[in-house]
Amino acid sequence: MNFKTLELVDKKLRWIDQTVLPLEVSYKTSDDYQEIITAIKRLEVRGAPAIGIAAAFALAIAAEKEQDTYDEFILKVANELRDSRPTAVNLFWAIDRMLDIYVKYANESTEDIINELFYEAKCIHKEDIAMCQQIGLNGATLIKDGDTILTHCNAGALATGGIGTALAVMYTCKEQGKKIQVFADETRPLLQGARLTAWELQQENIDVTLITDNTAGMLMRQGKIDHVIVGADRVTNNGDVANKIGTYAVAVLAKEHGVPFYVALPDSTYDKSLETGDEIIIEERSSEEVTKGFGNQTAPDNVKVYSPAFDVTPAEYVSYYITDKGLQKGMREE
Ligand code: MRU
Repeated sequence: MNFKTLELVDKKLRWIDQTVLPLEVSYKTSDDYQEIITAIKRLEVRGAPAIGIAAAFALAIAAEKEQDTYDEFILKVANELRDSRPTAVNLFWAIDRMLDIYVKYANESTEDIINELFYEAKCIHKEDIAMCQQIGLNGATLIKDGDTILTHCNAGALATGGIGTALAVMYTCKEQGKKIQVFADETRPLLQGARLTAWELQQENIDVTLITDNTAGMLMRQGKIDHVIVGADRVTNNGDVANKIGTYAVAVLAKEHGVPFYVALPDSTYDKSLETGDEIIIEERSSEEVTKGFGNQTAPDNVKVYSPAFDVTPAEYVSYYITDKGLQKGMREE
């Protein structure tokens, strides 16, 4: 990849600002945890694994700056981070992992606590890189030379610490010499497919065609899609999948047309504490993202808007879960 989604530089977090892609490739750097929270809320940093990694670094960075009155402060930072976005479980998973480290080393010197927190955040990042690689290898076994793949939203390098989840499969196919063609749903309303997936795949010279979300059904009916691969924000024990709004519609279309539908996810996206997708909290976004997306007003003043950021696809629509452990028919198989 010729860009870095997240990086720790001199105990500061550096991230690519995804709100200005693809027009500008611009980075921000901060050692202020509140700025990192704002970046998560504004979707400068986005995608389930990337949010978790950013939160882990934010906690370590906050601890480094405060150096005092730790118990209360660390919990306050953790709670503010938890409040940034509700759906991706990776955020909560990473914060809990960091708090476990804090509790384990709470009686050590301040310097030791800080070192351990940075070490753990780096481990979370490194493990994500490795899981992405493995997801790519496992998923590529499903794809033949010449296949076409449809994807929704962005589950690529921009959404993770590594080469992505759904897009990792595509990058791995390319490395293995398989020629593939990708159709990227633009992904209303924030256009992660158009702004991010199309850009990312272009950078890596993967044949990508951008389509409006409404075009997916027609392409499937014409027999032009061999596979659908999407990422996930949270997958529950029964295999239900929360992912970007519109994923459910794509899954239903895929089933209707006999196209296999795969969900790529690292272990950090599997929420073992929830039984079904009904228990997942779905984030709602502001009406302006729908009525004035990217500055242009496209709806009448004061119109009522409902804008869930994610939906839940029931497990019955999923042909395979592509995880870092392998190809799974269900989540409980492990
Ligand atoms: O609102 P976003 O852009 O954070 O939503 C991202 C998605 O829905 C991704 O598909 C998901 O987080 C998986 S990323 C590997």
